[in-house]
Amino acid sequence: MILLRGRTLSFITEPEGIDDRASYRYFEDGGILIDKGHIVATGDFGPLASGIGKDAEIVDHRPHLILPGFIDAHVHMPQMQVIASYGAELLDWLNNYTFPEETKFRDAQHSRRIARLFLDQMVSQGTTTVAAYCTVHKASAEAFFAEALSRDMRVIAGKCLMDRNAPEGLRDTARTGYDDTKALIAEWHGRGRLHYAITPRFAITSTDEQMAACGALANEFPDLHIQTHLSENRAEIDYTQTLFPWSKDYTDVYERFGLLGHKTLFGHCIHLTEREADALSDSGSVAVFCPTSNLFLGSGLFDYHRYKRRPKPLRVAAASDVGGGTNYSMLRTMDEGYKVIALQGEKLNPLASFWQMTLGNARALSLEAHVGTLEPGTDADIVVLDARATPGMALRMETIETLAEELFLLQTLGDDRAVREVYVAGKPAKGA
Ligand code: GUN
Ligand code: ZN
Repeated sequence: MILLRGRTLSFITEPEGIDDRASYRYFEDGGILIDKGHIVATGDFGPLASGIGKDAEIVDHRPHLILPGFIDAHVHMPQMQVIASYGAELLDWLNNYTFPEETKFRDAQHSRRIARLFLDQMVSQGTTTVAAYCTVHKASAEAFFAEALSRDMRVIAGKCLMDRNAPEGLRDTARTGYDDTKALIAEWHGRGRLHYAITPRFAITSTDEQMAACGALANEFPDLHIQTHLSENRAEIDYTQTLFPWSKDYTDVYERFGLLGHKTLFGHCIHLTEREADALSDSGSVAVFCPTSNLFLGSGLFDYHRYKRRPKPLRVAAASDVGGGTNYSMLRTMDEGYKVIALQGEKLNPLASFWQMTLGNARALSLEAHVGTLEPGTDADIVVLDARATPGMALRMETIETLAEELFLLQTLGDDRAVREVYVAGKPAKGA
């Protein structure tokens, strides 16, 4: 048993405003009791401490904030050496930088090295759950799942299916994509805390035949996540229309092949028509907001509040989308998200922002029974945040009076330096 002591914060529902005290549970001198990788209890430290045996270890994180670990709903493991590639919009960025880099993952050793460094990086940023893309190569997914399993992390991931419009060495076929996906599901899905996601990269890199194969997989494995990209960039949308001339719009391509649904995660969704937004909403599909990537690639401004407030609201997640995205940190991601939303005349309040990084993303990924809160029975995936981590932060903290202000400071100035410790399945993992 281990008992963490500090200021605990966990959301119960989506905050409706900056004063929505009922949306979260906060204990000024709080405790989180952990046993065998799970949270047993969260509450006031005193009563928890008096109820535990002598062999329990107490770890004092005062005066820091203790929250559920962050969740990144869309990120590319093989793009660590693509970040900061200069001067291109999506399709040129893919062809000139990303695809050449991803071909390297046919090498199992390279896949293992990057998978290890990737999860090191995510954990050091306080991100304990990711929905990750591997490359087209089966070896890249094998490496990723093996690494996540060895750390006992809850992750969603899959190998990309892509059988056209990509270079030699980065294509499968409708048949091999289907067979490899099935073999990976059999080998990894449900082991430890691993979840397999059927991962057609995007419509441009799959033939009708491969999209149909993805539909068949979705039919055979209705509980699995599906992850792909949708409506990120104008040239991408136009090209998709020429490749699928029978489609009403981009969303219709995925719809016709049976790929919409409650567990489908659509990266970007920047330029959706009302019909497309209705289709996502009616099916319960998730639109994933990737602010740093959308800015970096000049893709456009995701209209977070329009999507959430329309008569048929969308389920929304937030994500780094590294390496189109420019930072691994969910704090940095939501800081840019705040600015994208501000450019559209709205404000995302800090409670809603931290809800999004934790419980909001857990719900979007249908993982709220396991992660995203500090509720008893859930996984002990936890982040400890220090709002005085740098001299600039410490100085600003002198003038801060409320929890919401402190969260906003953490988001606006914070990064991995503000992440003091991370627990994965109840074990300290930041320095591990
Ligand atoms: N669309 C298809 N593949 C990708 C990718 O790797 N990154 C981004 N941002 N968009 C994509
Ligand atoms: Zn992406």
